[in-house]
Amino acid sequence: MTTSSSLSNEQFAFLDLKPEVGVIVDEVHRGLSLEAKAISPKFFYDERGSELFDAITELPEYYVTRTEMALFEAHMEEIAAALEENICVIEYGSGSTKKIRRLLDVLKPEAYVPVDISGDYLLSNAQALLDDFPALKIFPVCADITQSFDLPVQVNELRPLGFYPGSSIGNFEPAQAVDFLRRVHVTLGQGGYFLVGVDAKKDISILEAAYDDAAGVTAQFNLNTLVHLNEKLGADFDLDHFEHFSRYNADQGCIQMFLKSTVAQQVNLVGKVISFAEGELLHTENSYKYAKEEFIALAQSAQFECLKSWQDSNQWFSLFLLRAC
Ligand code: AVJ
Repeated sequence: MTTSSSLSNEQFAFLDLKPEVGVIVDEVHRGLSLEAKAISPKFFYDERGSELFDAITELPEYYVTRTEMALFEAHMEEIAAALEENICVIEYGSGSTKKIRRLLDVLKPEAYVPVDISGDYLLSNAQALLDDFPALKIFPVCADITQSFDLPVQVNELRPLGFYPGSSIGNFEPAQAVDFLRRVHVTLGQGGYFLVGVDAKKDISILEAAYDDAAGVTAQFNLNTLVHLNEKLGADFDLDHFEHFSRYNADQGCIQMFLKSTVAQQVNLVGKVISFAEGELLHTENSYKYAKEEFIALAQSAQFECLKSWQDSNQWFSLFLLRAC
């Protein structure tokens, strides 16, 4: 049972900075009023969405997670050796705890701050971690990582290591990725470390298969956004009249995902009526892919230096250890 005392003590405290529903409604309204309709990929991640994403990471076509995990596995000791003592790991968009467990084993940080928008999923994962890491301080923060947020005061004296795996940084347009890194710089402070996993450009057929798998899990994940909006915001998207569509945009260097309206239709969304033409696209995600040098340049424009980087033998994925200058 969850009691308030078990939710807050010296070893564990939950900080809820979740945005108000009104703020979310405004944001969704704005996106759906655009000429090219769009909503943020953060709306994938309700509890079901987080589970579907975990299922994606197991798909044969989705090379991203297993390639990154192998890189962590191979270079974990080297990463640990590059850091100081008294580390606090801050995980941006923590989701499931699979990747972090190995990192916590090897780095042995003082504290761990998982930050995620999906509050219930965050809390249950963080609590489960307590059982296996009895000496670790855990301070989960429910927040929108695309906005500024404060770290829990309990970790003020520790050296922060931001951890942003999975190429989630690819969700931002490059200019927004720089803005994001600038906010990370502010949060971590000068001398803070940032360990980030970034997907690389590669053969289009490999990329496109990874975002349109044969089992249709990615399609379910994409469509779940509409379920999420129906439940959270009382919208009435008809799931039978939208379908998953994704493609690689070679000019921009990103995978783009859309929900395609299969008929002309209207959707009600908290007092607003949104019209879709037959075939109209609702843009749900960009997933930018960066060559190593491209990403290092991006990080540098946000005042991060690259201490080290690692790539797999196919050069499909990169890990960067950055430091805020
Ligand atoms: C979690 C943003 C890294 O872009 O590969 C997976 C999300 N979307 N399949 C990605 C995702 C469709 C994923 N990130």
